[in-house]
Amino acid sequence: MSIKLILKKSFIPLSFMSSAEFLRLVFTSATALFILFSLNACSKPDNDVDALLSLAKKSGCFSCHALDQKLLGPAWNAVADKYRDDPGAKEQLIEKIRVGGGGVWGDIEMPPAPSQMSGNDIELLVTYVLALTK
Ligand code: HEC
Repeated sequence: MSIKLILKKSFIPLSFMSSAEFLRLVFTSATALFILFSLNACSKPDNDVDALLSLAKKSGCFSCHALDQKLLGPAWNAVADKYRDDPGAKEQLIEKIRVGGGGVWGDIEMPPAPSQMSGNDIELLVTYVLALTK
């Protein structure tokens, strides 16, 4: 088959398309766009989680915490479990991290968060911790 013939066959001007063909074309493009969009949406949370984990690391949280085991402080997924149904937990934990304190998980106190840590960063980490699942 010559190149000319292939071009002729595949390059169909819109006016020669039946409406069914046109709809199929629109539908296929929409599906392709949707898949691309979903793939993009799927990869976003991972980037967010990476950013949050490095924020926690940078802020020193992981010298006393791990996601799934108790170190000096409680495992973060245990924290999520404990406050799962507590609507006031977010505010309470933000304050606890900001000023430090103890008595909830044992006698060891958590020191106040590093002073250069912004309120927004603390809130991001609390939101992340509270959303963890086992
Ligand atoms: C020096 C060790 C240490 C560091 C650093 C530390 N924590 Fe803690 N954390 C603890 C201890 C100990 C507890 C348990 C306190 C208690 O029993 O009330 C705790 C408790 C918590 C809790 C649960 C509080 C509660 O009242 O239930 C959260 C949430 C938390 N830490 C988050 C963080 C975050 C976020 C960081 C980093 C900014 C951080 N921690 C840094 C030791 C630490």
